[in-house]
Amino acid sequence: MKVSRAPISIFILFFLSTVLPHNLSLGSQITCAGIVPMKHRNNMLSISDFGAVGDGKTLNTNSFNAAIDRIRNSNSSDGTLLYVPRGVYFTESFNLTSHMTLYLADGAVIKAVQDTKNWPLVDPLPSYGRGRERPGRRYISFIHGDGLNDVVITGRNGTIDGQGEPWWNMWRDGTLKFTRPGLIEFKNSSNIVVSHVVLQNSPFWTLHPVYCSNVVVHHVTILAPTDSPNTDGIDPDSSSNVCIEDSYISTGDDLVAVKSGWDEYGIAYNHPSRDITIRRMTGSSPFAGIAIGSETSGGIQNITVENITLYNSGIGIHIKTNIGRGGSIQGIKISGVYMEKVRTGIKISGNTGDHPDDNFNPNTLPIVNGITIKNVWGIKVERAGMVYGLKDSPFTNLCLFNVTLTGTQSPPIWKCSDVTGAAEKVNPTPCPELTATTQQGGSCENHI
Ligand SMILES: *[C@@H]1O[C@H](CO)[C@@H](O)[C@H](O)[C@H]1NC(C)=O
Ligand SMILES: *[C@@H]1O[C@H](CO)[C@@H](O)[C@H](O)[C@H]1NC(C)=O
Ligand SMILES: *[C@@H]1O[C@H](CO)[C@@H](O)[C@H](O)[C@H]1NC(C)=O
Ligand SMILES: *[C@@H]1O[C@H](CO)[C@@H](O)[C@H](O)[C@H]1NC(C)=O
Ligand SMILES: *[C@@H]1O[C@H](CO)[C@@H](O)[C@H](O)[C@H]1NC(C)=O
Ligand SMILES: *[C@@H]1O[C@H](CO)[C@@H](O)[C@H](O)[C@H]1NC(C)=O
Ligand SMILES: *[C@@H]1O[C@H](CO)[C@@H](O)[C@H](O)[C@H]1NC(C)=O
Ligand SMILES: *[C@@H]1O[C@H](CO)[C@@H](O)[C@H](O)[C@H]1NC(C)=O
Repeated sequence: MKVSRAPISIFILFFLSTVLPHNLSLGSQITCAGIVPMKHRNNMLSISDFGAVGDGKTLNTNSFNAAIDRIRNSNSSDGTLLYVPRGVYFTESFNLTSHMTLYLADGAVIKAVQDTKNWPLVDPLPSYGRGRERPGRRYISFIHGDGLNDVVITGRNGTIDGQGEPWWNMWRDGTLKFTRPGLIEFKNSSNIVVSHVVLQNSPFWTLHPVYCSNVVVHHVTILAPTDSPNTDGIDPDSSSNVCIEDSYISTGDDLVAVKSGWDEYGIAYNHPSRDITIRRMTGSSPFAGIAIGSETSGGIQNITVENITLYNSGIGIHIKTNIGRGGSIQGIKISGVYMEKVRTGIKISGNTGDHPDDNFNPNTLPIVNGITIKNVWGIKVERAGMVYGLKDSPFTNLCLFNVTLTGTQSPPIWKCSDVTGAAEKVNPTPCPELTATTQQGGSCENHI
């Protein structure tokens, strides 16, 4: 590969390396910054030096692969920054490598080709046993990372555009052969940062860290049309030490959904999602703002959600699992949620979602224990809440504290079954299953 370096790109790279604030924080606000060690990249490459042309016409797959191969083979442990200048760069899917930063300049757009015929396939995830929406293999994500360490995707608010439309249409008309590709997937990887980028029009789930640890996402904007199917924003899946903050998401499905595989496959793989923080997020979703599940078979534990603002959404907070899932959902702490124009404020349900196949064991029930939801304020909320536990595995130790939801219209305002817990300072008055416990001396005391 012949490399010619334009002086202008050297100047830009030098500029970036000197003035980029690596530890910018706003006042004394808590941030995710401590979770992934900040690496300074001494080596830099520009995608232009590998023949890429950002004219919105040229296909740049070879340039991305050549640049990333160079980084892979350079073997440098401080890693390399790959600079994508302003322009629109068409490419097929590509793989990242360890110790790299993919840096999108202001006005840089990496755009997926809309080739649904030759898109590569990869094996199903073991905790799913098949593709999430179709049996068998699944299309590789547009940008993919497998078994990586120390990867950053950042820049000056550049865009990664999945051009999902033809994929959404295949879903709509039932012609999908395999599960649609996500926009960005990291699998079995650690020390990952995604920040200061716009992720848009994913064919399927947008950002999917699966079997990962130490993942930080902040200052991202995730966009997809309200009617685009399954375009979840961020899906931490069987992953730990994930921190998501200061982002805006508006898509066609759940904004953030914490998952851990499903049914017999997820139970056998046994890989929980745990130690996850989600804070200072804003957005709107026709489904849920913050979701846990419905794929919860590896277990979901110690999830902290703080300061969320939701507009025009289906459900504010949705904790969902299913029979046959097994796994336990424990230690979920949600506080500081403002919601406006939402159909259902809070929903916790034991019978949501589909199954991979008919081999799930209907007697393998999920355990839901220890959920705190406090300091919630909602206006124009049509239905306050629904909590449906399972008869043979009632949900236990649920605490609702300081929850005010106004504008409820369609009764029943609250509806509960097979749940124990307590409710204090909750308006409108919640279902007897929760208020009765409070009267009998149960309380939220050890939750708050
Ligand atoms: C960034 O970190 C360095 C070294 O820890 C410190 O000297 C500097 O003051 C920090 N800058 C800001 C803006 O916090
Ligand atoms: C890459 O690093 C490994 C382990 O540090 C070393 O064995 C190998 O020789 C290096 N390769 C190159 C091309 O520098
Ligand atoms: C990208 O990674 C996937 C999964 O690890 C692999 O199957 C595929 O061959 C890789 N593609 C390229 C072009 O290296
Ligand atoms: C996960 O990635 C590491 C490299 O980081 C590799 O050694 C290991 O085999 C991978 N595990 C699986 C299950 O793919
Ligand atoms: C980044 O781009 C998005 C989409 O164009 C825009 O909504 C957002 O305000 C931008 N963020 C910043 C910090 O410029
Ligand atoms: C829960 O997760 C947070 C990070 O979100 C972590 O700081 C804390 O140590 C975890 N608690 C336990 C008991 O593991
Ligand atoms: C959440 O918001 C409250 C009130 O605005 C503020 O005091 C608190 O610091 C915020 N917490 C986080 C983690 O941002
Ligand atoms: C109740 O929650 C609201 C936010 O919804 C908050 O402003 C208020 O301080 C909370 N009250 C108590 C007693 O915690």
